[in-house]
Amino acid sequence: MTILDGKKISKEIQLEIAKAVNKLNSKGKKTPHLAAILVGNNGASQTYVNAKVTACKNVGFKSTLIQFDNNISEKDLLIKVDEINRDKEIDGLIVQLPLPDHINSIRITEAISPLKDVDGFHPINIGKMALNIPTFLPATPAGILELIKRYNISTSGKHCVVIGRSHIVGMPMSILMSRNSNPGNCTVTLTHSRTVNLKNITKKADILIVALGKAEFITSDMIKEGACIIDVGITRVRSKYTKSGWKLLGDVSFDDIKNKSSYITPVPGGVGPMTISMLLLNTLKSVTGFDS
Ligand code: GUN
Repeated sequence: MTILDGKKISKEIQLEIAKAVNKLNSKGKKTPHLAAILVGNNGASQTYVNAKVTACKNVGFKSTLIQFDNNISEKDLLIKVDEINRDKEIDGLIVQLPLPDHINSIRITEAISPLKDVDGFHPINIGKMALNIPTFLPATPAGILELIKRYNISTSGKHCVVIGRSHIVGMPMSILMSRNSNPGNCTVTLTHSRTVNLKNITKKADILIVALGKAEFITSDMIKEGACIIDVGITRVRSKYTKSGWKLLGDVSFDDIKNKSSYITPVPGGVGPMTISMLLLNTLKSVTGFDS
């Protein structure tokens, strides 16, 4: 069994990005600049956005964090998005999700210029992704692809089962694994909350990608011997054994499964760190284009 070390690979990618920034600077080209909009005071969102801003600094990007109160109107948020769309200094824009209930997230996502949509959530970019046209790929699925690629895990002809159909992970992941590319070329089954007899399906997976948000839901009786297990879940639970009194759990019962799997991502330190590196890579591509 091999543990897929997302923390290590993510550091390697960030070093590669920092080198690319130096190269841009030495050629007198523009330093990539990411703008992040955060609405309200959701603790997890604040942590994620702060981590994104810090990562920008670490690789030499510029970043701008724009924070609004929970009660900002949809109209005012749209005005800000439009302003950033027209700002030539800014290359990439993300609006951290979830947004408060009174704001329509789809309307906000559609308002972001597809050319600055480094989250890859705009319908135009989702469409390009589905058609295998180079564009910004959503960060978490792209991070999973990169892990699979850097560990040389073969995917062609394999049965990939994805649990969860969110717009951020499950849906794009299922499309990416079925595309005619490497990694890709899988036979994909996308499962979700209405799926009947999930265990029958997960037991047939060569590659199982779990993005469900239920701590330790997947147990060894649900997987095939030698399967590759990718765990996207991250749930904070109370713990008597840590200094902080909390620990993070994935959707997969790691200790139960690890010896039955061929490859497995830990939580934390698996998929999570890859997500930020892929956002940085998208921001770099917003300056350099998609060929490099
Ligand atoms: N909320 C959870 N994941 C993400 C992400 O990748 N991008 C944004 N904008 N919001 C998120």
